[in-house]
Amino acid sequence: MVTKKNTNFHFNIILCGFMGCGKTTVGRHLALQSGLQFIDTDYCIETEVGLSVSQIFATYGEAHFRKLEKNCIKKASAAPTPVIISSGGGSILNIENIVNLKKSGKIFLLYAPLDTIISRLGTSTTATRPLIPNKSSIYELFFSRREKYLQAADFIISTDKSVSAICSEILDLAKIQTEQKN
Ligand code: S3P
Repeated sequence: MVTKKNTNFHFNIILCGFMGCGKTTVGRHLALQSGLQFIDTDYCIETEVGLSVSQIFATYGEAHFRKLEKNCIKKASAAPTPVIISSGGGSILNIENIVNLKKSGKIFLLYAPLDTIISRLGTSTTATRPLIPNKSSIYELFFSRREKYLQAADFIISTDKSVSAICSEILDLAKIQTEQKN
């Protein structure tokens, strides 16, 4: 059973991080725990276009996907707060996305070490995750992005605990931020 917490926040909770760090799972659980709306940028794009992320990559290319992602983030950031936003793994590499997300909320980086990511992504194929055709590309992407994720984050949440413990940590941090502002 999920116990609902008070979530009278004045900002959005934004989940970011590398593929396989648990953004969607944590976002769904946070939504249950808080009663807040959950916006998953990949899901929004897929619904809008009527194709999966991989199909969009294959049909229109990554650059087109990134444009759709930018629009989706702009819209999600403009929605009335507070909501929970899970932002696709590559979105934080674009400065305009970071600016929009930070205008509306706090960025919580879900962090997992590379070996955990590799084992979590073990069953993914390019059909579900177009950017990781093999293990060495996970390695390269992970290290080329790690610094950017860390720079964009307001909070870094280690994911070496249960989903419910991760959510409680995020909600507690958000509560402290709200109390500090009031
Ligand atoms: C991407 C991550 C994916 C999805 C797309 C690109 C990336 O989202 O947006 O495949 O560049 O890291 P998840 O992080 O939710 O898997």
